[in-house]
Amino acid sequence: MPTIRINSAQSTGQTPKATGAKLAWNKADTATIAELIARYPAGQSRSAVIPLLHLAQRRFGGWLSVDAMQLVAETLDLPYIRVYEVASFYTMFNLKPVGQHHLQVCTNCSCLIRGSDGILKAIEEELHITGGQTTKDGKFTLTEVECLGACVAAPMLQVSEADGAMHYVTNLDAAKTRALIRALQKDDDAALGKLVDTPPAAPDPITPTKYAG
Ligand code: FES
Repeated sequence: MPTIRINSAQSTGQTPKATGAKLAWNKADTATIAELIARYPAGQSRSAVIPLLHLAQRRFGGWLSVDAMQLVAETLDLPYIRVYEVASFYTMFNLKPVGQHHLQVCTNCSCLIRGSDGILKAIEEELHITGGQTTKDGKFTLTEVECLGACVAAPMLQVSEADGAMHYVTNLDAAKTRALIRALQKDDDAALGKLVDTPPAAPDPITPTKYAG
């Protein structure tokens, strides 16, 4: 297993536009990273790039800055471009800042047939933003996404929170969508609890125990 370097100098040949922010893993991150890397054969630590990107996104504000991707690259002894290639391919990674509540509306076939257009319209009317935009108060970002694997309960959306939590909200209609937004605006946990699906939509991509076979 490679040594986990904490905020050491960039050692790869890529010279992206970094902000100079001094990002570093904390002790808990370091322990998590060691567990994640240990899940792969010796010499294959690069396989942990996706969970490390999730960890970086969760730790550093809900998105992946160049500095955050550089830190992942350093940690895995990878060229920066290898990390960027992965981060820019998967839509669950945000390469620019997003709001506290990231509303990701599925507009793929099943959801489209079941009325995802109306869900988008309800959000746009409530928040006065369109796809790819963030509200002025930084609370909400709206994104259209491809199938999230919940076609049986279409139309649906995923709410990704700044702390990394994710929730599916399914069988949507305009009224339920507006109720969701109001609950999020008011941080009304009781109302949210009645709207979001449980258990969480997907395994936690960071916590190693969730991957135990
Ligand atoms: S098409 Fe929307 S979840 Fe599959």
